[in-house]
Amino acid sequence: MSIFDRSFAGFRRGWMKTSLLPAISLLLILPGSPLDAAEGTKISPAPSTRADRAMALERQMSPAEWLAATTPRDPALGDLTDEEILRLGEVMYRDGLLPSGEVMEAFIRGDIEVDSTAFSCSSCHQRGGLGSVEGGVVTPPTNGRKLYQPYRRPPSLNDVADKMGRYVYAKTITERPAYTRESLKASLRYGIDPAGEIFNDVMPRYPLNDRDMAILARYLELLSSEYSPGADPKGFKFATIVTDDVSAADREAMLEPIRMFVAGQNQQVAMYKDFLKFGYTPTGDMKYSFRTASLSVWDLKGEPETWRAQLEAYQQRDQVFAVLGGISNRQWRPIHEFCEARRLPCFYPITDLPVVSDTDWYTVYFNKGYEQEGEVAARFLKRRAEIDSATGILQLVQDSPAGRALAAGFDHSRQDLREPAVETLILDDALLDDPKALAALVAGKHPGVVLLWADATILPHLPLLAESLADPALLFVSSTALGKATTTLPEKIREQVFITYPYRLKPYVGDEEGTGFLSRIPIETTFRSFGDRRIATRTATMLNQSVLQGLRLLYENLYRDHMLDVMSMQMDQTVPDYERLSFGPGQRYASKGCYVIQLGPGPEPELIPRSPWVLH
Ligand code: HEC
Repeated sequence: MSIFDRSFAGFRRGWMKTSLLPAISLLLILPGSPLDAAEGTKISPAPSTRADRAMALERQMSPAEWLAATTPRDPALGDLTDEEILRLGEVMYRDGLLPSGEVMEAFIRGDIEVDSTAFSCSSCHQRGGLGSVEGGVVTPPTNGRKLYQPYRRPPSLNDVADKMGRYVYAKTITERPAYTRESLKASLRYGIDPAGEIFNDVMPRYPLNDRDMAILARYLELLSSEYSPGADPKGFKFATIVTDDVSAADREAMLEPIRMFVAGQNQQVAMYKDFLKFGYTPTGDMKYSFRTASLSVWDLKGEPETWRAQLEAYQQRDQVFAVLGGISNRQWRPIHEFCEARRLPCFYPITDLPVVSDTDWYTVYFNKGYEQEGEVAARFLKRRAEIDSATGILQLVQDSPAGRALAAGFDHSRQDLREPAVETLILDDALLDDPKALAALVAGKHPGVVLLWADATILPHLPLLAESLADPALLFVSSTALGKATTTLPEKIREQVFITYPYRLKPYVGDEEGTGFLSRIPIETTFRSFGDRRIATRTATMLNQSVLQGLRLLYENLYRDHMLDVMSMQMDQTVPDYERLSFGPGQRYASKGCYVIQLGPGPEPELIPRSPWVLH
């Protein structure tokens, strides 16, 4: 058994356990099982208990029922096509802007205006429109397929009034009949549901003109109305992406866990079907765990400029629901841009060169890669008492994507911290090959801090460089850029050298009590092995986060945007490689920490943390 097989077997054990337990669901909904219907086996008996009745109300509306409820066309729409409505309505729904470009007016408690660009519909009801539960407030779904049928919302912990008869949180309407297009418009305008119940104060009122209201209502009808490509109630199609600069070993380290997941998933579906044949009645949530999966490997060849066309061709041949992981040593940008344009989720690809953006949505990364290490160096310096505005800081940047990304992170963070920009020198190959010239150049600048954003070719020059400085300067390097060679840092300068290190200091193999409950993915490589890219463990984390946590909570809502919404409502996780992995609404970089460390003596040096995991 390879190291990886062992760790993945552990992972699978945990996974099977999770899938057999009813998932803790945010939206406790329970429609008829699509698998049941497809197999022609069990039909649920008539609801008998109150809970059953509540759930029966939440059955999925069929496409035909949705069509009947949304025709005829609203005359107020003029000759706008659905495509135009999707575009205009999306800006209203997500950004709070009217088709005219003006800000949408919104009021709470009668006449208090709220800023609908900050509190857009999607900030509460989510991008996919399936709602959320936060701080005790249940925000109900707001897509046509949910609105145009009766609804009873799931219970909330805060449904109980206190002694004074007040509710801690806004109380949300619990049950209502189906909306029509007209009662939907009335609800948005006046905050009233089809039974005449008034909404709580969380939901704003929107005094829109007839045309804008018609656009918004039609947008809600269209929102999450059809399953996303690559998904149906029986299963999901996935892809993963590998570029041709990746070694065969790294490629396998990433692919193997995903293949095992797919095989395991399909095997369980087969087992589940056998259960059904023998008359077994599944519990509600269980059927959502039993869906088939398929995996296409999208190999990208040649230069990054040609990747886009290759990706388009793959996607055209076989539409997938999401991209699971992926790996490249080059910039992820072309793949990121493809996924953004095609609205295709991509979960946790293995890259040190992600796209750092505040607004992009479809790719979820482990962290900001090199940029994050640069950022952390800037924040670390800000906190060192001996560094002040008189200290000269010199940035030496190798002319490579990694060097530039490290410098970009450092520079952005300096800006955010309102610190002046630092002097930056680009290290070309000639300088990297000429230690004496480099040392002389650096010494002439009298820096107190030197950031060396370069790969391991810089290492042999460090002692000379350190010696040539009159006063001992602090040197900074990136462990990701140096890779395995980090531990060969010459001993006599170790006290001077600070290293950015974006992983755990100690591998996580069990909880504090040592019960081993969380040790699903034992780390077999030592934490000193800087060269190890943690491909298998990070891929296993990706599967755990996106597939086990995310897909299980989709139920019958098989929409890509909803999948990303659900991901952002996850609990924080303890994972092998990062101290903390958390992912909130709108966030796209799950690990927000990085250590600054120094090395102890010897060939297998101790890693000595000089900063906390998260540096503000
Ligand atoms: C600040 C959060 C927030 C914002 C912003 C918001 N909503 Fe709501 N919405 C809610 C909550 C909470 C409820 C439940 C109210 C209740 O039941 O008392 C709700 C209820 C609704 C309902 C009724 C659902 C039902 O099943 O009866 C619709 C429709 C709706 N919202 C659509 C929208 C649209 C469209 C927008 C943007 C134009 C929007 N909401 C903006 C929080 C919000």
